[in-house]
Parts: sequence; structure tokens; C-alpha cells
Amino acid sequence: MKFQLLVIPFVHLAFLPNLVSATVYTSHTQLTKRQYDIIIIGGGTAGSVLANRLTENSKVSVLVIEAGADTKDNLSVQVPFLGSTLPGTAVDWAFTSTAQSGLNGRTIPYARGLGLGGSSAINLLTYNRGSDDIWNSWASITGDSAWCWNNVKQYYLKSSSLVAPADGRDTTGQVDPSVHGSGPVEVSVPGFSLPIDTLVVQTSKQLGGRFKYNVDFNSGDFTGVGFMQSTVGGGERSDANTAYLQPVISRSNLDVLINTQVTKLVQSGTSKLGPIFNIVELGSTADKNNRSQVMALKETILSAGVIGTPQILQLSGIGPSASLKSLGITPLLDIADVGTGLVDHPMVANYFQVSSNGTWDDVLRDNSLLGSTLGQWQSSRQGLFVDSPANTQGYQRLPAGSSALAGIADPAAGSKSAHTELIFVDGFAPFGELTQPATGNYLTVLTAVVSPTSRGSVTLASTDPFAKPLINPAVLTTNFDILAMVQAMKDAQTFLAAAPWQQDFKPVAFGDLANAKTDADKATFARNNAVTVNHPAGTARMSSASSKSGVVDSQLRVKGAQFLRVVDASVFPTIPECHIQAAVYIVAERAADLIKTAYGL
Ligand SMILES: Cc1cc2nc3c(=O)[nH]c(=O)nc-3n(C[C@H](O)[C@H](O)[C@H](O)COP(=O)(O)OP(=O)(O)OC[C@H]3O[C@@H](n4cnc5c(N)ncnc54)[C@H](O)[C@@H]3O)c2cc1C
Ligand SMILES: *[C@@H]1O[C@H](CO)[C@@H](O)[C@H](O)[C@H]1NC(C)=O
Ligand SMILES: *[C@@H]1O[C@H](CO)[C@@H](O)[C@H](O)[C@H]1NC(C)=O
Ligand SMILES: *[C@@H]1O[C@H](CO)[C@@H](O)[C@H](O)[C@H]1NC(C)=O
Repeated sequence: MKFQLLVIPFVHLAFLPNLVSATVYTSHTQLTKRQYDIIIIGGGTAGSVLANRLTENSKVSVLVIEAGADTKDNLSVQVPFLGSTLPGTAVDWAFTSTAQSGLNGRTIPYARGLGLGGSSAINLLTYNRGSDDIWNSWASITGDSAWCWNNVKQYYLKSSSLVAPADGRDTTGQVDPSVHGSGPVEVSVPGFSLPIDTLVVQTSKQLGGRFKYNVDFNSGDFTGVGFMQSTVGGGERSDANTAYLQPVISRSNLDVLINTQVTKLVQSGTSKLGPIFNIVELGSTADKNNRSQVMALKETILSAGVIGTPQILQLSGIGPSASLKSLGITPLLDIADVGTGLVDHPMVANYFQVSSNGTWDDVLRDNSLLGSTLGQWQSSRQGLFVDSPANTQGYQRLPAGSSALAGIADPAAGSKSAHTELIFVDGFAPFGELTQPATGNYLTVLTAVVSPTSRGSVTLASTDPFAKPLINPAVLTTNFDILAMVQAMKDAQTFLAAAPWQQDFKPVAFGDLANAKTDADKATFARNNAVTVNHPAGTARMSSASSKSGVVDSQLRVKGAQFLRVVDASVFPTIPECHIQAAVYIVAERAADLIKTAYGL
């Protein structure tokens, strides 16, 4: 192996002088410095937050290493509505799951953002901070009260702010400005009203109960039905790259290396607290003879996401020793839970044919309509494309006495956390096995289980860092998950059977769903059609200091190692019962403070 740098003795307390100005490098062969105080692996959602906050102090030098390209000028990334076209393209790692026993053996696509901003640049923009209950449960799981909502609230307020929707309408009663903060990620309610928005709100107010109207989920109560809040400002996607990284990219103490993968961490030595993995090996191709090394003088931070982080740990010999050995990797730090505990929200697209022509189906079928809608976005940041494909959503707790909860502890963190979700889409949403029919108007209700009990894993398929790992999200493998999904599918039909829908829309279940009359039929439909919401978490879980399970402690330090932290959705000890990107921003903001405190920055 030929390396471009060799191991330099470990100096923990030194600061490096920063005489050169910030640079975005596109190849590891261009690097002029080989040592940084802090190296951030992955310029995604969490990585971009850290890059911003940690370089606020000009004495600290930081290198961010990102496998993908810069996504900021990509029109499909910028246009909120086009988010659903990104999976499977150059900005997605485009993983595929292993054959899923809960899905009748099907494999499903597993999207993960590739490029600066990571998954925040390709996601569907929904912004939910999680119930107070979920954060308080993390405090209790980790034995660290600093994770309770009352403490992490400051990081929520610091990461995002509410801005006006693109159409500038009066949003009174659709959002509560008093529960929003003043941070860089821009959040807004939909900027282009759709005919179904009013029907959803009317139905919610008519039905009440589990479908009660909720003016703002980000108040901390994730139950009821309300307007979607999305990471959109001025009609454009606001992501970790545009909100956190780009505004500081010219800081002289920040270097960013793109199009480069971290292939493993190398141990430089051992302190009395454990092995030190502060050498980072890089490459851009599977060619083992073309690698570089860089060294972190203070800390190495893994922010490579729920798939990349456990993959890099395992490639470095950090993980379950027996399985690493069987692949021919020398185990250096035995942590059984690296890559275990993968959890995701299963999702089913329920399609309904409608009598109204007030849906956006034709925009996806008619190139000239697509072109004019895009033209409207380009010229004025107005129209359908300023929003994600959904303007409203709901979260429900299971009905009292639900068979799904019989004999198990309630998997939701508390009464403000839901079990299931409904997302109302004013057209045929391309999120399942079916493709949009050539004619007709449709509604889609996406149903999801947001407190799933299934757990899967991320394991290595090969010692080649460029080979895709084995991703098993174990979708719908517990009784709870399938029963809760069936309840959500029934909730969708109950909701659409209400009076407001019977005037123009008259929704009728479409395709196999029309024949799925019994609970058992609905379960079969779910197994034949489910995907996930792309919310994986938990592959390097936080646990209490004394716990033998988990991977990192409550300060996100890899247990048994030194100067190595994980900061991304891998550390979530449980999955929030809602969309999860806001929780990643919150965790990253808190991590930045922990690191600043640890080094007196
Ligand atoms: C299609 C899709 C839709 C989603 N919709 C929503 C939604 O509507 N609302 C919501 O809240 N959440 C949504 N999510 C989830 C949310 O976006 C993620 O949970 C969150 O962005 C994850 O942040 P992260 O920092 O953990 O990882 P990421 O943002 O994925 O960052 C990881 C980064 O590390 C890089 N990387 C990985 N391996 C390496 C390596 N070896 N070397 C160098 N770099 C590496 C990656 O390229 C990536 O940039 C969605 C996700 C997807 C994919
Ligand atoms: C921009 O995104 C599209 C996906 O819609 C992708 O096909 C294209 O390759 C991306 N461009 C770059 C420069 O990454
Ligand atoms: C090594 O990889 C870099 C980045 O892909 C490339 O620019 C360079 O030409 C490669 N060098 C060799 C000797 O192959
Ligand atoms: C939708 O239906 C209305 C009333 O029938 C009609 O006036 C309108 O032209 C239709 N719009 C489209 C786009 O077909």
C-alpha cells in the first residue's frame, strides 16, 4: 500500500495555525495539509451542522470529507416538489435492502443522500421536532438528563426558524409561530394551496378525537391532523448544505474534500482509556494502492449516516469481533451492537381514485404542463413546485384496546407520541410498487407505523469499502408493526369516508386495495406494497455509561475508544414517532456544544 502521509506522533492539545484560506478539494491527492484538529466524516445533515459550529472558533481547524459532490446548484435538489424524483439518481447512494421476510421476500430501494447536505438534500422536507416524550425517554434510556426536552429545546430553537410560505398568505390557525426558533434551516407551511387541504382540515374538525385538528405538531404534541411543515424557504429547499455549510464555506479554518470516501479509520496508538483511531484513510475508487491518510489531532467524528457510520466502524475493526474475524478483518475493539438495531418507519401507499379533477396527476403526465409549472417556479418561486408532494399530515395513537398493544409495552414514548401516521397527497404519489396510471385522478394516503418494534441490521458484505453493505431494515417483522399498519390503513378509509369528501372527490379505493376488505387482506396488501419512509436510525445507539449494550455513551463517544465520536441518526436510542431530520439537527447542535466544552473552545 502506498500512502501519501505517514503516521505522525499523536499530539492532543496542540492547535494548528490556520494560515491558508478555506478550500473545497475534489480529490485527496490535492490536500495540502495532512493534519486537522477535527475531522468530520460525512458532509451530510449532521456533518454540515458540526462544520459550521466547530469553525466558529477560528483557532480550530476542521476537515470535512464527503463521498458525494456539492448538491447546491442541482435544480432537482432546489425545487421542493422534485424531491421525490431524486432517489435512484446521482445524489442517492441507491442502496437496496436484503430480501425482507415481512414483505413476502421483496427487496426495497433504500435511499440515502450522497453529496453535501446528505439526506437533507434529497428528503421530502417534512420538519417535525419530535414529541417532548421522545426526548424525555432518551434522557431516561441514557441516564443523562441533558437529553430531556427542556434541555435540548435550545438546540431546536437554534437550528431552524419559521418563514412565510411562498404565497405569503395569512397562515393564522395553520401554524403557531411562538413554538419556532431562530436558526438557519428555514421552515414553512405549504406555499401553494391544494383543493384537498381544506377537506383534510374540515374532516379533522368534524371527526375530532384521534383525528382532532392540531395547529402545530412542533408544539410537542404529535397527535392529530394538521398542516405539513417543510424545510422550504422562499419556495426553495433549505437543507444542511445551504443553511449551515455554504454560509461558512470560506472560513479559513475549514477545508472540505468532496468526491472522496473514507475507507477506514486506522489506530495510531492506545491510551489508558482505550485505542485511539485518529487516522482517517481516504480513497475515491476500489484501487487499494490509491489511498491517503489524514490525522485528527483532537477528534474524529463519524457523521456518515445510519449506513455509512456502522460500515466504516466495522471496516476499521470496531464491531462484533466474531463476525469481523469471519470476514478477515482484525478486530480492534469489540462492540457487539455496531450495526445492530436498524429501525425504520414502514410505509404503504394507499391509492384512491377520485371524481374531481382537482389533483396534480396531469403535471406528471403532461410534459408541457410539467415545463410550465417548472417555469413558474424558476421565474417567480410560485406554484405547485414550491411544496413537497404533500400539504397535510396526521399522527394517531392506536384506539384504546387495540389488539396491536395486547401483551406488549406501549412502544410509543408517551401520550404525545403517536403509533401511526397519515400523509395526504393530492395525486398518485410514486412511493410504492405501483406506477401512475395513464389516465384518471387520484389521492394517495401514505400510511406509516411511527413507533415500530421491528429491528434489523447493517453488516458488511465484503471488506471492500466500495462494496454496498447488507441492509436489513426488517420491515413489518413484528406483530405490532403489521397490526398497527392495518389500523392506519383503516384510519385512512375512515377519514376519506367523511362527509367533506363526498361532494367532489368521492374517493374509491384503487387497485388491489379495493379488494382488501378484511384485516388479513389489508395485511397482505401491506406486505406486498410497503416500503419505508427512509427514516433509518439506531445502528450506533447511545446508551448509559454502565450499559453493556449500545455503541456510544450519552456524549456520543464510542465506548472503549478515545477521541472518536458518532454524530448522526445512528446514535438515536429509539426512533422518534415522526419524521426524523429535525432530531438530527438537534443532536448535531448539542454535539457541537459537547465538543466545544470538551476542548474549551
Ligand atoms: C428519500 C428520503 C426522504 C426523506 N424524507 C424525510 C422527510 O420528509 N422528513 C424528515 O424529517 N426526514 C426525511 N428523511 C430522513 C432524513 O433526511 C435523515 O434522517 C437525515 O437527513 C439523516 O442525517 P444524517 O446526518 O444521519 O445522515 P446523512 O444526511 O445521510 O449524511 C451522511 C453523509 O455521509 C456521507 N458518507 C457516507 N459514507 C461515507 C464515507 N464512507 N465517506 C465519506 N462520506 C460518507 C454521505 O454521502 C452523506 O452525505 C428522508 C430521507 C430520504 C433519503
Ligand atoms: C442532479 O440531480 C439529478 C437527479 O434529479 C441527477 O440526475 C443529476 O446527476 C444531479 N446532478 C449532479 C451534478 O449531481
Ligand atoms: C488516485 O485517485 C485520485 C482521485 O480519484 C485520482 O485523481 C488520481 O489520479 C489517482 N492516482 C493514481 C495514481 O491512480
Ligand atoms: C376540471 O373540471 C371543471 C368542472 O368540470 C372544468 O371547468 C375544468 O376545465 C376542469 N379542469 C381540467 C384541468 O380539466
